[in-house]
Amino acid sequence: MHQTRWAINPFRQSGVFPLPSTAPVRAFHRSLPGYQPTPLVRRPVLARELGIADLYVKYEGTRFGLGAFKGLGGSWALHRLLETRPGSFTTVSTASEGNHGRAVAWAARLMKVPCVIFLPAHAAPERIENIKGEGATVVLVDGGYEDAVRRCDQESRARGWQIISDVGYDGYLEIPPLVVEGYSTLYQEIDEQLAAAGWAAPGLVMIPGGVGGILHAGVDHYRAREPAPRIVGVEPREGDCLTESLLSPGGEPATAAGTRETSMACLNCGEVSLPSWPSIRRGVDAVLAIEDRWAEEGVRRLFRATPPDEAIEAGSSGAAATGGLLALTADLGCRDLARTLGVGPDTVALVVCTEGPIDRRDFERIIGG
Ligand SMILES: Cc1ncc(COP(=O)(O)O)c(C=O)c1O
Repeated sequence: MHQTRWAINPFRQSGVFPLPSTAPVRAFHRSLPGYQPTPLVRRPVLARELGIADLYVKYEGTRFGLGAFKGLGGSWALHRLLETRPGSFTTVSTASEGNHGRAVAWAARLMKVPCVIFLPAHAAPERIENIKGEGATVVLVDGGYEDAVRRCDQESRARGWQIISDVGYDGYLEIPPLVVEGYSTLYQEIDEQLAAAGWAAPGLVMIPGGVGGILHAGVDHYRAREPAPRIVGVEPREGDCLTESLLSPGGEPATAAGTRETSMACLNCGEVSLPSWPSIRRGVDAVLAIEDRWAEEGVRRLFRATPPDEAIEAGSSGAAATGGLLALTADLGCRDLARTLGVGPDTVALVVCTEGPIDRRDFERIIGG
């Protein structure tokens, strides 16, 4: 079995990268039914167990009743398209491992646009049902996520459907940055929640990486300030396209080297989103590709809380950033990375927990283990 792997970013640039105002994004999200900031949960006991000063968990399991953060991106992208290209399409589509598809289906229902979602045939039944429950048509595609992306692209072009994908690739680069812009609300909320609670700003931010969109949004948010926290992307060892890209000659987008078998289903991506890569490449401090056992231990540590810590229910993709933090503090193979990042008793860490236990059976398996 492959072991945890990491890369310190040799392409990181110093300085501040100003960000256009994200206030309109926040105002739009506030206007949606069911909008509420998701919780920022402080876990001081877990922090002590990990040997750090404090730990915050931004918990996306309650976002818009969709179980994951993805509604922020899909809704904003569709809204912008309806504003800027009215009448130019009658149906929207996307490929997904589940969460983004559900998010686009939900947004399409709200905005009254027909929707078709392409999923890999191995997608968990709950995920398929959740998308159908939003009124979308589901097309199951043999193969993995990238096969679903290709099929969605071909069929949508043939039929004139508007693709709202969270991954950008050659020939489709414009819309994924809108999805990423939508994620900015999550980080704005964190700033407000820290300020309202009077809690210290984090010095270390751990963000999960699939195609890199939520990491891109985090990098843009935190690198627009000085001092910026250390930012670490966390991905599955077996779906390690971010690590491969940082380690490639010249830091060019590269394909995952792992087996693509992982319980972090939503992070199981073979290729980074092309329009997200420049921000990640110049702004992230490091990426960490973890084995499933760390994400699953993350699920258990979030769930089994010692008071006053509150229990958190997360899926294994959702708990990946927590798993990354566990690996940073306990995996001997991460010692040099932890030292470079300055992880120690003074560290205040933030983990972005992107998903609740949508795949209930997998959650029960992990908690039982
Ligand atoms: C729960 C969850 N976490 C993290 C991610 C990773 O986001 P990105 O693909 O933008 O890197 C996804 C993507 O679908 C997801 O569903």
